Amino acid sequence: MNVNLKIKRFDPTDSSKNSWWQEYDVDIHKDSTVLDALIHVREYEDTSLALRCACRASICGSCGMKVNGSAKLVCKTRVVEIAPNSEQIVVEPMGNQPVIKDLVVSLDTFFNQIKRVKPYLQPDHIPETGEYIASNESMENLLTAMNCIMCGCCVSDCTVLEVDDNFIGPAALAKAWRFVDDPRDSKKIDRLKDLNDEDGGFWDCTRCMQCVEVCPKGVDPMDRIMELRDIALTNGLDNTYGAKHAKAASNHIEHSGRIDEFRLPLESKGIFNIKEIVKLMLPGLRFALKKRAPSPIHFKNPNQKFVKNLFKKVEK
Ligand code: SF4
Ligand code: SF4
Ligand code: FES
Repeated sequence: MNVNLKIKRFDPTDSSKNSWWQEYDVDIHKDSTVLDALIHVREYEDTSLALRCACRASICGSCGMKVNGSAKLVCKTRVVEIAPNSEQIVVEPMGNQPVIKDLVVSLDTFFNQIKRVKPYLQPDHIPETGEYIASNESMENLLTAMNCIMCGCCVSDCTVLEVDDNFIGPAALAKAWRFVDDPRDSKKIDRLKDLNDEDGGFWDCTRCMQCVEVCPKGVDPMDRIMELRDIALTNGLDNTYGAKHAKAASNHIEHSGRIDEFRLPLESKGIFNIKEIVKLMLPGLRFALKKRAPSPIHFKNPNQKFVKNLFKKVEK
């Protein structure tokens, strides 16, 4: 089958440092993957094209790229599935990571995030004989997170990392959860305290679900992040703005079946926290001037009772 590839190129030796688009028409077997098509380009059309791959079997995690706007393992993406009628395929390097050349990004950012969460067991004793024994159930529970192949697709498409490069990121937080929930680890609370940080910790996730959508291994980083939040709250680590925000929202729904957008930011920051309240007032005033500020009057909603009952059922 014929396919047109539109590839984003970048040459670090080019003094202008500008990237550009280049198109290639390739004739490939109908079962080819996007990686096969890219390799075809490199082998037969343009030997200057840089790309990274190794296993070609969705195991090594090295071929993450953006295909038609979202991160994918190109060795796992068949051309016929995304371009059944030979539509153009757009391939770019992954996002939120510096580009080295063409489709190859630097993984330093990714691995620095992973290093931040100390991705190794920290037990409090060494068994006198044999290995550390953990129950089957406790290990099975960790399998989803252990499936991570460090491809960086989730980091590429994380909407928070687009605006805040201090965020620890979905892959590293999923990795952190894997150790927080491992019964052999003795640093659970220390880990949670580190990750509970206002600046870049698990409360910074906006639950956009992008990492869940693009993860090729079903790790569901966002769910792991929500579990970290739950474990932190269960262990009394509730003194951050993020924790207060979650508790205030939950209280609102429990008592009135809706979130009070006017009170929520005040309760999240603390109503006597003058410094933070003043910071909130400036954007609040701007919203008010544009008539977009939430009303301080709590309007009735016909579904509030239903939501309250639903909340009670979920709590049970
Ligand atoms: S759900 Fe959270 S971690 Fe995942 S991509 Fe969105 S903001 Fe990032
Ligand atoms: S969590 Fe999924 S998307 Fe993120 S690095 Fe691991 S395997 Fe890749
Ligand atoms: S080449 Fe190894 S995951 Fe794609």
